Amino acid sequence: MRFLERCDRLIRLRDRAWSLFLVLCREQSGFGDFHLKTTLAIAAADALGLCDALDRKRKALRVGLPEGRASATTLPGKRGGQNSKRLSKLSLETQAIQREVQDLLSRLGPYVDLNLEDTLQSFLVRWNHDVQAIAEWELLGPTEAPALEADGGLYRDCQLLEPKNKLTFRLNEDDFRDASLRAGYIGANAYLELASVDIVSDLILQAWEAQSAHSRGLISDLGRQLLDEARHAELLADRAQALGMNLGHVGVSLHTWHLVRSFPSLAEKLVAQQVIQEGVGLDASALNILRLARVGDRESSEVYAQITADEANHVSLGIRWATRMGRLPLDSLVESVGRKVQEIDPPPDIPVAVESAASR
Ligand SMILES: [Fe+2]
Ligand SMILES: [Fe+2]
Repeated sequence: MRFLERCDRLIRLRDRAWSLFLVLCREQSGFGDFHLKTTLAIAAADALGLCDALDRKRKALRVGLPEGRASATTLPGKRGGQNSKRLSKLSLETQAIQREVQDLLSRLGPYVDLNLEDTLQSFLVRWNHDVQAIAEWELLGPTEAPALEADGGLYRDCQLLEPKNKLTFRLNEDDFRDASLRAGYIGANAYLELASVDIVSDLILQAWEAQSAHSRGLISDLGRQLLDEARHAELLADRAQALGMNLGHVGVSLHTWHLVRSFPSLAEKLVAQQVIQEGVGLDASALNILRLARVGDRESSEVYAQITADEANHVSLGIRWATRMGRLPLDSLVESVGRKVQEIDPPPDIPVAVESAASR
């Protein structure tokens, strides 16, 4: 394959991955099946990973993009229609990208471009899994919207409570000895992580619509966070089920979704979600590591240890981008957003991880 053809294929594939990434961010919010939503979010993050890797490759080859093309892919259509039809379309596009990567690899030939070969092969390892998981959901059939609970434009496969009636699990040390109470607590946390998947997908779409100088860098960071949140949801759901809880048997509320949506600007939303909500979540997770270890549930304790490490990065992400994008100094922004958070949805009395500010 000649150099110019290789560059052309690379740019086409990059555009296709970018477009699918945006579509997946939009479409996953219209589904309500817990594991399907995480599957689509993971596929979105993988598509963005390919797009970012091909962008780095393109820059290394000194191949430019036409003006405005870096982020100006048109988002086709609007979300709507039957979930089964929408999922079939997504499944077809994931398979089309899989074939395109396979074809590019076969035509590239060995040792022509080892870096590109490695990029495509490592992407395929993850993507083959995504394609298979989505195809399995297509066969199984997603739950259609009328059979799901809905609130604020989102869907869930369990009872949805009014945000003001949110369940708050404040378990003491002894409560943690009871496996069923632990399972309920961990299951509720799994749905909180699922709300983070929706919030981060929404932030990505807003950053893209803003088309600012910061959009592309912020989207890359949010794409990595999207993968983390989907993984957290899955890890916690697995633990809740291992402790005997059927996922979806406890009602949940979308209070974090409503809270973040109540702020108009991206900088305020980043402070509300990544700095305040996730700061509180980070400290709660750190406490859970100890409490679960003390009652002998080492596996659950380990899950929270993994989550805590990621949440520290998400708080730093929020601080970094809110500092860059906010019209106010960070301290003033955190103060004004914090006041509104206290009015709408006061977080539990756990200190926000202020030490993360040092890493911004
Ligand atoms: Fe998380
Ligand atoms: Fe997070």
